[in-house]
Amino acid sequence: MSRPQLGEILAQADREGWAVPAVNVEGCELAHTVIEVAEGARSPLLLQVTPATFAALGWQWHLAHLLDLCRRARVPAYLHLDHATAEADVELALDLGADMVMFDGSMHPLEENIARTRAMAELAHRHRRLVEGEVGHVGRQGEPPAWSRLTSPDEARGFVRATGVDILAVAVGTRHGQSPGEGGVRLEALAPLRQAAGVPLVLHGASGVDAAVLRAATRQGIAKVNVGTAVRAAFLEGFSTEHPTIRERLKAAAGRVRPVVLERIEAMGAKDRAREGVPS
Ligand code: 13P
Ligand code: ZN
Repeated sequence: MSRPQLGEILAQADREGWAVPAVNVEGCELAHTVIEVAEGARSPLLLQVTPATFAALGWQWHLAHLLDLCRRARVPAYLHLDHATAEADVELALDLGADMVMFDGSMHPLEENIARTRAMAELAHRHRRLVEGEVGHVGRQGEPPAWSRLTSPDEARGFVRATGVDILAVAVGTRHGQSPGEGGVRLEALAPLRQAAGVPLVLHGASGVDAAVLRAATRQGIAKVNVGTAVRAAFLEGFSTEHPTIRERLKAAAGRVRPVVLERIEAMGAKDRAREGVPS
């Protein structure tokens, strides 16, 4: 039986009020662990990787390896390029077969963001792949807070119409790199944004968001939730223990990661959403 299309799963999540977990992975151990958790929870999954990680580990073989892991997974699992700010990285990821790409022009003036994102959306669609864009700006640790800009409904509407993106990252109060409980979401902003955008929304910086708030956000138009910091923190805590060998340390790290990923999957309502008919 065939794998469901990623676009169908995102549309289903959007319709039904839950979100597809998009987990940042740096390296094979983390990728394996995250896939195992998704399989155990019967959740669809997006493994997402930044251009910096691909550059460090080797684009060709790392991307091919992750795609292979996704194709063999017992749940629908897909590979996404996260936060590409250079066109060349989007082109490379598409050539190498990534299922979805994000072009992040949110640091640039709106007109430039639109023009560059539109070109990347056209390219991704020629490859029959999905594309994510960002309007407004979700800040990150180390950036001046003033750089963060909430997304307005007018901006969301105009950006999606002008660029043709399939899914839209919006700034609604989160920041990248927050600890659990530290983050907030302006829930009241979501329904108007979803309506104006006309496409499903993405929540970045979800590590710090409470489970109840995350669940509420997925009921108001968030159909993809990005989680990185909480997973990396768990891995590092587990790895730097007293275990003498690398293998034992990796095992301990995976043990710390599992409950964190499972908790996020449950919080976004993705548990048991993997459709029947996925190869096992
Ligand atoms: P956190 O690292 O804050 O969870 O954000 C993840 C993210 O948005 C990746 O694009
Ligand atoms: Zn992000």
